[in-house]
Amino acid sequence: MTFDEEYRIKLQEVEDIVDRYLPPEEGYQKTILSAMNYSVRAGGKRLRPMLMLETYRLFDGRSKAIEPFMAAMEYIHTGSLVHDDLPCMDNDEYRRGKKTTWSVYGEDMGTLAGDALFFYAFETAGKAFDMNVNAANAGKAMTLLAVKSGIYGMAGGQTVDVEMTGKALRKDQLRFIYELKTGALIEASMMIGAVLADASREDIITVEQIAKRIGLAFQIQDDLLDITSTTEELGKPVHSDERNVKTTYVSLFGQEQAGIRAKLLFEEAIELLDSLTGENRFLKDLLVFLITRKK
Ligand code: IPE
Ligand code: IPE
Ligand code: MG
Ligand code: MG
Ligand code: MG
Repeated sequence: MTFDEEYRIKLQEVEDIVDRYLPPEEGYQKTILSAMNYSVRAGGKRLRPMLMLETYRLFDGRSKAIEPFMAAMEYIHTGSLVHDDLPCMDNDEYRRGKKTTWSVYGEDMGTLAGDALFFYAFETAGKAFDMNVNAANAGKAMTLLAVKSGIYGMAGGQTVDVEMTGKALRKDQLRFIYELKTGALIEASMMIGAVLADASREDIITVEQIAKRIGLAFQIQDDLLDITSTTEELGKPVHSDERNVKTTYVSLFGQEQAGIRAKLLFEEAIELLDSLTGENRFLKDLLVFLITRKK
C-alpha cells in the first residue's frame, strides 16, 4: 500500500471520531453550534489527532479512551484557526477550501465559535473518564491539553506573533513564537498519545522532544507554502504573511535556508524516534509527509 492509500484509510478513521463527538445543532444557541460544526467539518488534514493515535499505537495503547482526546485536539486546533483568520488577526477569508467562519457567520459569531470550540474540547475529553482509562493518566492528558493550548502554548505564541507583526524579529524570538503557536499543539498531540498508553516518564520526554522539532519544521513548511503554493491547492490564501508583514523563517533566512533548517529538524526528530523501543512505520511516514507536504 502506498502512503497516500494508507493515509486515506487512516483519515477516514479519524474523521469518523472527530465527527462523532460534534454537538447537535439545536436550542436557542443553535447559531454557534452550526458555526462550530461548519469550521470542523470544512475538512483539514487532521494531522494532530492522527499523530495522537499513531503515538498511542507506538506505545501499544489499545483503549477507545483515546478517541475523545483525538476529537478534543482537533476542536482546539480548529478553534485556533477560526480565531487566527479573524479580521483583527490575519484577516483571511478562506480556510480549508471554504469561506472562513467569521466571513460566513460574522465576526461576533466567529469569535464565539472559537471560544466554544476550546471549551467543548474539554467537555469532550472529559468523556474519556467514563471509558476504560487510567484516571491519573487521563488527568495528566487533560492538563497537557490545557497547558499546551493556553498561555504557555498556542495562545501565548499567537500573542507574540500578533504583537510583533510588522516588527523585525530575532531568530530566538521567532523560534519562541513557532514553538508555542504551532509546536505546542503538536507536542500535546503526541504526548497525550504516549501518556494514555502509559509510556514511561523518559519516553514521554523523548516524545516531547520529537514533537518540538516536528512542530518547528511544520511551521517552516507552512511559511514556505505561503510563498510557493497556490490558494486552490492550500485551501487558504497564499501570501497571507507578506500581506500581514509577518517575519517568518523564510523572510529571515530565505527559502533555501528555511528548507534546510526544516530538514535538519526532521532528521533530529527521526533519530529520536528511532531511539525508542516501539516501532510504528506509518508514524514515521506521516512525519515525512508533514514536512514535505504540498498543502
Ligand atoms: C495550519 O495547520 C496552521 C498551522 C499551525 C500552520 P494545518 O496545516 O494542520 O491545517 P489543517 O488542519 O490541515 O487545515
Ligand atoms: C499558525 O500560524 C496559526 C495558529 C497557531 C492557529 P499561521 O497564521 O501561519 O497559520 P495559517 O497559515 O493561517 O494556517
Ligand atoms: Mg497567524
Ligand atoms: Mg494565519
Ligand atoms: Mg501560515
